[in-house]
Amino acid sequence: MTHQERVFSGVQPTGNLHLGNYLGAITKFVALQESHECLYCVVDLHAITVWQDPKELAGNIREVTAAFIASGIDPKKQIIFNQSQVSGHAELAWVLNCVARMGWLNRMTQFKEKAGKHKENASVGLFTYPNLMAADILLYHATHVPVGEDQKQHLELARDIAQKFNVDFAETIKEAGFEEGIFFPQPEPLIQGPATRVMSLRDGSKKMSKSDPSEMSRITMTDDADTIAKKIRKAKTDPDALPSETDGLTDRPEANNLVGIYAALKGVSKEEVLKDHGGAQFSAFKPALAELAVEKVSPIADEMKKLLNEPAELDAILKDGANRAQTIADPIMKKTKEIVGFIG
Ligand code: TYM
Repeated sequence: MTHQERVFSGVQPTGNLHLGNYLGAITKFVALQESHECLYCVVDLHAITVWQDPKELAGNIREVTAAFIASGIDPKKQIIFNQSQVSGHAELAWVLNCVARMGWLNRMTQFKEKAGKHKENASVGLFTYPNLMAADILLYHATHVPVGEDQKQHLELARDIAQKFNVDFAETIKEAGFEEGIFFPQPEPLIQGPATRVMSLRDGSKKMSKSDPSEMSRITMTDDADTIAKKIRKAKTDPDALPSETDGLTDRPEANNLVGIYAALKGVSKEEVLKDHGGAQFSAFKPALAELAVEKVSPIADEMKKLLNEPAELDAILKDGANRAQTIADPIMKKTKEIVGFIG
C-alpha cells in the first residue's frame, strides 16, 4: 500500500492573526490547493494549552476560518474545519503520547519559550503539544505540511514519532496490509520563500507573534489601511539606505525583515526587491511597502468582516469540513487501533 500526497496544516485560534501567519503559512495554503488535496485545521485543542477565555474562543475560531476563506482557500474544494470536532485528533494523540519519549519533548524549544521560568506551572497539554500536532498530521497520513520556520522542530518530532511507531509496530503493520512496513508516512515540512520567519516591527531579533504585548510589533489581518500604514511608518529601521544585494542585509535584521515582507507580499525574491529598491532610503521604501501591504491585506480584512457577520455560515462550513475530515480519519484511526492490538 502506498500513500497519496496530501497536505495538512493548522493555525491556532488565539486572536491577533498577523502578517507572519499570513505570509509564512496561509499564502502557502492557498497556493497548494491548486495541486493537492488539502486539510486546513483551526487547532482549538492546541489553543487551550494556554488559558483561553471561553467567551472569546468561538469568535477566534471563526476569525481564523474567515481568514482562510478570505485569503482564497475554497472550502468546497478543500477541507476547512476545527480540530475539536474530529475526535480522532485527541484519540491518536494519546497513542502517540505513548510512542514519543520524554527526552524528545524536553528538547522542544517552543515549550521552553512558552513555559518560561514557570515550567512547573505550565499545563501538561503545553508539554505534550507537539504530540497532538503529530497526531493532526498522521491522522490523515498527510505527506506535506506548509508551516513557518518556527514549526520546524515540531515537524522533525512528528517525523521521529511516525518512524518510531512504524518500527515499534512493524509486525502488526505488515499484517494489516502495509507490506513495506510504513503505516505512517513521514511528513515533509514545506518551509520556503522570503517570509518563513517574519520578525517584529519593533525588534528585528524577535519573531512577529500573537502574544507580543505591543500592538505596533505586528500587522494583524484585521488592521485597517491607516493602521497598517502607521505601523510600517513607525517600524524600527537602521539609518542606512537599502543595499543592492542580499549580502548587504546580513547584520541588518530590521532591513532584512522589511525587504522579506515586501518580497513575500509581491510574490518575488528579495534579490528582485533590491534590484528595484537598492539605494533607497527607508523614507522612500516604507511608503512603497505600506502601499503594497494595504493593497494585499485590506481586501482580506474587508472580506473577513463580511464573513464574520454571518457566523452561522462559518459554523456550517466548519461542520461540513469536519464531516469530510472524519471520513478520511476514521479508517486510519481504525487501522491504528488494530495495529496497536485493541479490540473493536
Ligand atoms: P501558529 O498558530 O502559531 O501559527 C500558524 C502558522 O503561522 C506560522 N507563523 C509564522 N510564519 C512566519 N513568521 C512568523 N512570525 C510566524 N508566526 C507564525 C507558523 O509557523 C504556522 O505555520 N503548532 C502550530 C499549529 C499546528 C500545526 C499542526 C501546524 C497545530 N497542528 C499540524 C502544522 C501541522 C502553531 O502553533 O501555529
